[in-house]
Amino acid sequence: MMTALPPRSRRGAWLITGGAGFIGSNFVRALCAAPPARLVVLDALTYAGNIANLRDLLDARAVELVHADIRNAAHMIHVFARFDVERVIHFAAETHVDRSIAGPQAFMETNVLGTMNLLRAAHEHWRRARPGNLFLHVSTDEVYGALSPTEPPFDEHRAYAPNSPYAASKAASDHLVRAWHHTYGLPAIVTNCSNNYGPWQFPEKLIPLMILNAIDGRELPVYGDGLQRRDWLHVLDHCEALRAVLERGVAGNTYCIGGGEERSNIEIVAAICDLVDARLGRPQGTAHSLIRHVEDRPGHDRRYAIDSSKIGRALGWAPRRTLAAALPEIVDWYLTHADWVGNIRTGEYLRFYEAQYGQRLQATS
Ligand code: NAD
Ligand code: DAU
Repeated sequence: MMTALPPRSRRGAWLITGGAGFIGSNFVRALCAAPPARLVVLDALTYAGNIANLRDLLDARAVELVHADIRNAAHMIHVFARFDVERVIHFAAETHVDRSIAGPQAFMETNVLGTMNLLRAAHEHWRRARPGNLFLHVSTDEVYGALSPTEPPFDEHRAYAPNSPYAASKAASDHLVRAWHHTYGLPAIVTNCSNNYGPWQFPEKLIPLMILNAIDGRELPVYGDGLQRRDWLHVLDHCEALRAVLERGVAGNTYCIGGGEERSNIEIVAAICDLVDARLGRPQGTAHSLIRHVEDRPGHDRRYAIDSSKIGRALGWAPRRTLAAALPEIVDWYLTHADWVGNIRTGEYLRFYEAQYGQRLQATS
C-alpha cells in the first residue's frame, strides 16, 4: 500500500523525467492519487515516450508536461528555475538492450551526459540544499553484469560489471550520481531494480512483445536456448518501492529492488502462450507452436536476481504482487488496449521490428 507523504509542499515541484515512458507514467499515475507536490513531467517523447500514457492526467491538470530533452544542459537549468524544482525522480533514459547493441550513441548521450546535465542543474539550483531536496536516480540491476547459476542474488555490495552498452551507460550514470553526492554534497539516492512488467510497457520488451505476437499468431522469437533468467517485478511494486525511498530513504544510499520471482525466459513465454490461448478460446498449444529459437543476443547476460533485503529492512518495503496473479491481468490489459497498441505499431516500431527480427509487421493488430 502507498503510505501517506507529508502534506502537499507549497515550495517547489517534483520533476519526473521520462514520465511519459513505461515506469515513469505508472509512477506519476500512482502519485496523482494524492499528489505530494506540483508534479512536472519532463520528457523528450522519444519512440518510447507516449503522451497517451498520461492523457487523462494531463486533461485533468493533475500533472504538467514539459517537452524537453535532458541532453540540452541549458534547458535543464531553465526548467529547474522555472518550476523551482525541489525533487527529481529521474527515469528518462534509452532503455532497450537490443537498441543499445545496434546503436550505442544515443545511450551515452542521454543516459550519461543527460544525467550529468540534470545533476549539474540540481546542484546549481540547490546550492544551499533545503530539507526535502532529493535526486532519486532510477537505475537497473544490469549494472552488476551476469550471475552464474549458483551465485547468490545481487545486493548493494556487488561490484559493477556492466556487459551491454545500455548497462555500461547506466553504470556510468550511477557513478556520476555517486560523485555528485560525494563531491558536492548533492542529496541523492540510486535504486537498482530488476525487470519490470505491467501496463503501458512498450512492446519491444519481452512480455508485451510475446503477448502481442501470441494474440496475432506471429512467431515468438526466443533468443538462444531461452534459459536466461530474469527476476520479475510488477511495475506498481516498483513504484511503491520508489515511494518508500522518497519518504524514508537516506541520501548517499543505494537500494536494490527486485520481485524475488526468478524465471527462465522460456517459462515466461510458455505461460503467456497458455494465457493467450485460454483468453482467446483457442486450443491449448496453439500459441506454443509459434515459439522460434532465434539467434542469441550478443553478450547476453545469462542470469539476474536481486536481494531486496536492505530496502525491506530499512524502509519496510516488500513486493505485494505475484507473476501468477498479475500475468493474466497484463494479458487482459493488452487485449483491451488495442487502440494504444495500434498507435504504437506505426513507422518507427515497424522499422525497428523488421531490423531486429528480419520480419515485416503489419501496422495494426
Ligand atoms: P521507457 O523506455 O519506457 O521510457 C523512457 C522514457 O524516457 C520515455 O518516456 C522517453 O521519451 C524518455 N526519454 C528518453 N530519452 C530522453 C531524453 N534525452 N530526454 C528526455 N526524456 C527522454 O523506460 P522504462 O522501462 O520506463 O525505464 C525507466 C527507467 O527505469 C530507466 O532509467 C531504466 O533504465 C530504469 N529501469 C527500467 C527497468 C525495466 O524493466 N523497464 C528496470 C530497472 C530500471
Ligand atoms: O533488468 C532490468 C532491465 O530489464 C532494464 O534495465 C531494461 O531497461 C529492460 O529493458 C530489461 O532488460 P532485459 O534485456 O532483461 O529485457 P528484455 O525485455 O529486452 O529481455 C528480457 C529477456 O528476454 C532477455 O533475456 C532477452 C530475452 N528476449 C527479449 C526479447 C525482446 C528474447 O528472448 N526475445 C525477445 O524478442
